[in-house]
Amino acid sequence: MNFKSKVVDLIASQVDLSKDKINQLIERPKNEKLGDYAFPAFILAKTMHKNPAEIAQTIATNLSSEDFASIQAVGPYVNFAINHEKLISQTLQTVLTKQDHFGDQVLGTGNIPIDMSSPNIAKPMSMGHLRSTVIGNSIAETLKKVGYSPIKINHLGDYGTQFGKLIAAYKHWGVEADVKKDPIMSLFKYYVKFHAEAEKDPELDDEGRAWFKKLEDNDPEAVELWQWFRDVSLADFNRIYQELGVSFDSYKGEAFFNDKMQPVIDELKDKGLLHESRGAQVVDLGEDKKPAMIVKSDGSSIYLTRDLAAAIYRMKTYHFVKMLYVVGNEQANHFVELKAVLKKMGYDWSDDIYHIPFGLITQNGQKLSTRKGNVIFLDQVLMDAVKLARQQIDQKNPDLADKDQVAHDVGVGAVIFHDLKNDRVENFDFDLEEVVRFEGDTGPYVQYTNARAQSVLRKAEQLGQEPDVTGAVMEDDWAFSVAKALADFPRIIARSSQMFEPSIIAKYALEVAKKFNKYYANVKILNEDEQINARLALVQATSYVLTEALRLLGVNAPKEM
Ligand code: ARG
Repeated sequence: MNFKSKVVDLIASQVDLSKDKINQLIERPKNEKLGDYAFPAFILAKTMHKNPAEIAQTIATNLSSEDFASIQAVGPYVNFAINHEKLISQTLQTVLTKQDHFGDQVLGTGNIPIDMSSPNIAKPMSMGHLRSTVIGNSIAETLKKVGYSPIKINHLGDYGTQFGKLIAAYKHWGVEADVKKDPIMSLFKYYVKFHAEAEKDPELDDEGRAWFKKLEDNDPEAVELWQWFRDVSLADFNRIYQELGVSFDSYKGEAFFNDKMQPVIDELKDKGLLHESRGAQVVDLGEDKKPAMIVKSDGSSIYLTRDLAAAIYRMKTYHFVKMLYVVGNEQANHFVELKAVLKKMGYDWSDDIYHIPFGLITQNGQKLSTRKGNVIFLDQVLMDAVKLARQQIDQKNPDLADKDQVAHDVGVGAVIFHDLKNDRVENFDFDLEEVVRFEGDTGPYVQYTNARAQSVLRKAEQLGQEPDVTGAVMEDDWAFSVAKALADFPRIIARSSQMFEPSIIAKYALEVAKKFNKYYANVKILNEDEQINARLALVQATSYVLTEALRLLGVNAPKEM
């Protein structure tokens, strides 16, 4: 199946080098016509005291294998050209047998908590939170595919001085019915109004502080309002998560760690790490770095302290092998501090913590900002995307049975795919029309390609023909290029999981789709000759791989669209 490892085995039978070493040495020939793999025989010239071309010649003459159409010396290289028919039949056989398990592998085991999404209560979920949600979800699916047990944690922003302000605002202008009807929008409106009014009337800020103090002291009214705001906001968020098809294993947010910070502060004290600096408690992180703030001068704790408590709690609860934080680039320093303080506390597992940053979404090149009112509302984006998808489906396939469901899968899938197709640290501009296009590098294009494959299979069934590679197999270049791409899938998954980079899978899905569409355009798949079943096997295998690649990205693949 893996032709590179076959090359390694063949070379290893001829030379005195370890397989690992040979594996590292193997190259791609500069020119595709010269073969698919090249072994640089000149490496051996010194030890063997022979001229490189001669060594290459000897190795090539000694080797022969059915898996390769030719094994030839080209100057100081031994070049291997894959036997097309072999690669095609072996690859298709493997995919047809493993189906959606093709690409499953064990690269590691153990728990990996993924801190993801984590929006702030009573505020609209931002595009940044969308990115964190879909990137985190795809990383979780991919890690599962390679043996790990991901744990998706929504570290809700459900505590802090802003809740004092929100309660004060609600007491002034709140309308219960409005909050019940449209929680996030109403609460957000009160919050914005509070800030505007507080500019004119600073006493409001004192009120906000007083309410927060009450909340901290467990005043029943404050706690009840806070709980209510949290519940209704979460219900709103859950609607979006449902649209996206993302679920969580834990919603333990900031509030959960209220009573878990003091023990951390005590521990820092006991370990002699805490000292005072201008009334605040800080941990020194070395001469060239700013000290990390643990307790503010007014005695209140901060974001970092909560995350320290959360990290320690998660270690105790999950005994993780790695822990990921899928959070925007702008918080990079926060996670550097988090790891550094944990390390100072003697927790070597801090080395297993990874911040997985991502870039900003802009609109017309402009940064979005909640405070300036320059926001994209996520439910709106998803609804618009579904509507646009629906329009295209009405045009292209008006008789489609399950239009609502398909429009949903295509619209939402388009938004997710668009988010994941670029390297995650890159910023990108959001343009809905572009996102939902059926052509170009879009999710709908991949979905459409898969639906096309499914439609070929349905027609074949009517002809009484099935995918099968046990008979005659084609060896044309179109088929070879598709099969070779399919054979890459396990390696693509491995790389994506190691780099926590969903875009590797998204780009791969686009590549497979493009190659398949070339095949489709150039080959009469349903021509009833002796190779029809092998061609159908290629169609079926492509559909398995595209569907599974999309699943790893969190995108559905309708069978018809
Ligand atoms: N709620 C934060 C925000 O919206 C993100 C939290 C990320 N997770 C964490 N453990 N700090 O910016």
